Amino acid sequence: MKKIFCVFGTRPEAIKISPILKILKKEKDKFNLKVCVTAQHREMLDPYLKFFGITPHYDLNIMEDRQSLEQLSHNVLSRIPSILKKESPDLTLVQGDTSTAFLAALSSFYLKIPVAHVEAGLRTYNYSQPFPEEANRRLIDALSILHFAPTLQSKTNLLKEGFSAKTIFVTGNSGIDALKSVTQNPQNFQNPFLKNFFNSNSKKENFKTILVTAHRRENFGKPLKELCLALKSIADSFPEVFIFYPVHLNPNVGSVVKKILKNQAKIFLLPPLEYGDFTHLLKKSWALVTDSGGLQEEAPTLGIPTLVLRKITERPEAVQTGSVKVIGTEKENIIAEVSKLIKNKNSYQKMAKVSHPYGDGGAAQRIVNALLFYFNYRKNRPKDFEP
Ligand code: UD1
Ligand code: UDP
Repeated sequence: MKKIFCVFGTRPEAIKISPILKILKKEKDKFNLKVCVTAQHREMLDPYLKFFGITPHYDLNIMEDRQSLEQLSHNVLSRIPSILKKESPDLTLVQGDTSTAFLAALSSFYLKIPVAHVEAGLRTYNYSQPFPEEANRRLIDALSILHFAPTLQSKTNLLKEGFSAKTIFVTGNSGIDALKSVTQNPQNFQNPFLKNFFNSNSKKENFKTILVTAHRRENFGKPLKELCLALKSIADSFPEVFIFYPVHLNPNVGSVVKKILKNQAKIFLLPPLEYGDFTHLLKKSWALVTDSGGLQEEAPTLGIPTLVLRKITERPEAVQTGSVKVIGTEKENIIAEVSKLIKNKNSYQKMAKVSHPYGDGGAAQRIVNALLFYFNYRKNRPKDFEP
């Protein structure tokens, strides 16, 4: 039996790790699975643990209001090592680019525990965008002995940096596994406001809803203000447009967004939505405006045109297929890009294509196959994901 110690702490990690845990659990004669949540997010983590039926063996409960990166790092680094020493796993599994993932990788490395990185090789090659995620993922890759790259592009990045091809498996992104599992069945809104709103409005002519999310640190302050002012102008200019904005719980986001956008008739500020409602809302959206990482993967899979509030993206694949456009955060540019989609049907149709550059729903199985191969439970190297 090989012991796998899986650490995560935030909403997107829970979503992307859950399909892997589900398949790992099926291999219970080969893997002894231990799950540790740092709870870097608390309110935005717990509903996902419940939704995906994950009961952690350890909960470090580290979240503090307005936590600094230093405090967050201190809290993880002071609590994880004793657990790692006690469990002495054969491998630590982390996902993505959060500080939880990096700090769990670092703690494991210090204890000479091998690390496997899910979603390896994403790069902007700019340490300030996204911050601190670009540094986190490069550091995690440097500390890892297995790299689960979601796409060929991410594998190519790793190869260029000198990582051995032997350590890299192209798996697709497990976020697409989660998305498919929730959207393949008929969905209904649990949130009464959303249920009522769509029941009463969705048959109206020209009806358009734009879904908005933003939470990146580099967008705090002026960029976030510019976004809010742009949304106000868009809602005022186009009577057929309604804007839904589930606001991230980071107070640096809420304070700005609520100040500018509260009491706008056609802009609905919502709390973070649970995964079922959120993905259903995404599916029903006419377009998405976001700075999220995971949403850049989910929206093309559902054929939702996506405008990205960043200067650069580590997810170029959907930009290449045409469903995603990187537009920055200047007010006038956001207004111009959204207006173009509203006024020019051709531009809109070109972006409203379903594409699957990030996965086919089989990423978690490929990751588990790669782990079986690494631990000599399986002879053949698993085949790479091809879109
Ligand atoms: C974190 C990750 C980011 C990821 C994002 C996903 C780091 C440094 N950042 O950013 O990579 O894209 O999660 O959403 O790893 N808060 C709550 N309740 C919650 C969650 C957050 O109140 O459930 C508030 C707290 O005041 C907390 C603050 O938000 O201190 C910031 O949380 P933190 O995890 O440090 O940063 P995020 O911006 O959420
Ligand atoms: N999401 C959600 N509810 C929300 C907003 C987002 O369930 O109100 C999901 C979304 O479907 C995606 C993930 O959260 O899977 C993205 O998380 P986030 O944007 O916070 O993090 P990032 O991907 O940028 O790291």
